[in-house]
Amino acid sequence: MLVSGAGSNLQALLGAAGHEDFAIVAVGADRDAIPALDRAAAAGIPAFVRKLNDYPQRPDWDEALTQACREHQPDLIVLAGFMKLVGPAFLAEFGGRVLNTHPALLPSFPGMHAVRDALDAGVKLTGCTIFLVDAGTDTGPVIAQAAVPVADDDDEAALHERIKVTERRLLVQTVGRMAREGWTVQDRKVRIGR
Ligand code: GRF
Repeated sequence: MLVSGAGSNLQALLGAAGHEDFAIVAVGADRDAIPALDRAAAAGIPAFVRKLNDYPQRPDWDEALTQACREHQPDLIVLAGFMKLVGPAFLAEFGGRVLNTHPALLPSFPGMHAVRDALDAGVKLTGCTIFLVDAGTDTGPVIAQAAVPVADDDDEAALHERIKVTERRLLVQTVGRMAREGWTVQDRKVRIGR
């Protein structure tokens, strides 16, 4: 898994790993001193940090991140609150098996401020999306979505927290199903099961 922050999605997957059909082999981050790394340490999961600023150019960072992931031979890479776009080397190696989670119903409200943008647009229903990562920002094929109603008095923090409750459940369910049943993608349509 790749993370940048609180790591509550990581925690949900760690909690499920015992009884779902997957194991978390490593946690990677683009910064240190984040709660997500503490969670990995507490669970005894190997972790690594590759910071963009430690490399001369972005492709060097991309290559280093790819190499670090490769060492753990993952079947699936889950980005959960990972706040960087992965690059061409990463996608050349892992493309098609990299998942991300986003706190809106894509293709609505892509980008860094999805929850705020949904509130500003005045929508009554938003939610979360699990999708396959491609080279764009939140543009890859959708794997699973769940809706969350917007309350009249929601602010960004309250709405995001509520979305995250649903998001964690959906992520655990989706990773479990993909691990058990496999998946196919045709014309942007992702189907879990063979
Ligand atoms: C999630 O809502 C994710 O969709 C967004 O950032 C949040 C990460 O939460 N990009 P956490 O670090 O897993 O708690």
